[in-house]
Amino acid sequence: MTKFVGALHEFHDAAFVKSWADRFVPSLPRLALFDLILAQISRPSMPNPHVLELGLGPGYMARHILERNDLITYEGLDFSEVFFEVAKTTIGPFLPRISLTLADLMEQSWPARISNLPGAIISTWALHDLGTPQAVADVYARCYETLPKGGVLINGDFIKPDGTDWDYEAGRFEVQQHLTFLRQAGFSAPMHLGRYEPNTETPTAAQNYACLVAVR
Ligand SMILES: C[S@@+](CC[C@H](N)C(=O)[O-])C[C@H]1O[C@@H](n2cnc3c(N)ncnc32)[C@H](O)[C@@H]1O
Repeated sequence: MTKFVGALHEFHDAAFVKSWADRFVPSLPRLALFDLILAQISRPSMPNPHVLELGLGPGYMARHILERNDLITYEGLDFSEVFFEVAKTTIGPFLPRISLTLADLMEQSWPARISNLPGAIISTWALHDLGTPQAVADVYARCYETLPKGGVLINGDFIKPDGTDWDYEAGRFEVQQHLTFLRQAGFSAPMHLGRYEPNTETPTAAQNYACLVAVR
């Protein structure tokens, strides 16, 4: 058996994107993560009700949040115009409350492209695709610089479970390493709020994700 966990994506290919979006309609554990994120960004302590999502993808989380919180405005950042087309269909009637921002998270100037100051920056199953731990650390640093005091960063993403003897693609790494990177970015008390679909024995590329939270 190949003891490796990872996935290859073609984010700019329309056929790939459509089939990926059809296969990954959110499962119950994924919806539970959306609800956790929704609760975090619905707190009165959030400095302003504007949310930036890094890696909008097919828009599943955006739709989930916009239809449950009337106060929030939303900005979806992605580097794939093909995904934007899918997201527009997903988000449907809530489109007037979202802006779409084309930007590449590998370019350190991406914060200059966003249109409004976010009270929260959120992301699910996207940052591991940047391919290296350093690329994720760089995004955390840019988020710290971008958020106002009291703003929150929430990243629900695939991780490498502790103690596994499987190899994972480099963008999937341990929760403790995420927490270290968040501290290095400037966040004083980052934490993780949960691990989802844990499977250390026979993991698939769609399992083992965690929710990291850090307040500016
Ligand atoms: C799994 S999808 C996100 C799913 C989304 N959270 C949802 O709930 O529907 C990951 C997204 O990250 C985007 N992405 C990957 N690498 C990126 C990069 N370097 N810059 C910007 N977006 C990127 C992909 O194009 C894809 O749309």
